[in-house]
Amino acid sequence: MKKNGLIYSYNSKKTAIAAKMIHEAFGKKNIDVINAEDIDEKTFLSYDYLILGVPTWFDGELPNYWDEFVPAMEDLDLKGKTIAIFGNGDQKGYPENFVDGIGIMAEILEKQKAKIIGFTSVEGYEFERSRAQRGNMFAGLALDFENQRKLNKERIAKWVDQLKKEFT
Ligand SMILES: Cc1cc2nc3c(=O)[nH]c(=O)nc-3n(C[C@H](O)[C@H](O)[C@H](O)COP(=O)(O)O)c2cc1C
Repeated sequence: MKKNGLIYSYNSKKTAIAAKMIHEAFGKKNIDVINAEDIDEKTFLSYDYLILGVPTWFDGELPNYWDEFVPAMEDLDLKGKTIAIFGNGDQKGYPENFVDGIGIMAEILEKQKAKIIGFTSVEGYEFERSRAQRGNMFAGLALDFENQRKLNKERIAKWVDQLKKEFT
């Protein structure tokens, strides 16, 4: 049996709200939940399919808890791992760094040979630049609690349906 995991910081605010919605939509018994602040290499590698919650902080950077795990990640062989990333950002407040964290994380994981899935369209967002953008897609699910909170439910439902098809 393939193992599914959802990793996010239990101390985060909006990311935790989104993660709980994703957990619910995925079906609670189908996926383990892990605190990003306690993550280690062994736990990370024990999953075949992962969903990571990666908000953007500090004008286009990862929050500290993810940053601390990055050096360890850069030594992992992630061949055969399938990973989807969701990330919160604020397109009006940070239009030049909108959800950069998704892109930063995707780049690190791809370098380690993970397969990134769960890309979504940039349509419906207004921003100037994002490290998460690849053509007309984001390398994950972008959520904006500050400006488009009302769309979260629908965006998450659609994304989880997409992941269920891609997590095969
Ligand atoms: C100090 C600070 C810096 C931020 N920098 C960015 C940024 O560069 N890009 C972006 O899209 N959002 C940025 N945001 C918005 C956050 O990503 C957003 O509020 C997110 O929902 C926070 O998630 P969390 O509560 O789980 O930490 C920033 C927010 C704060 C308070």
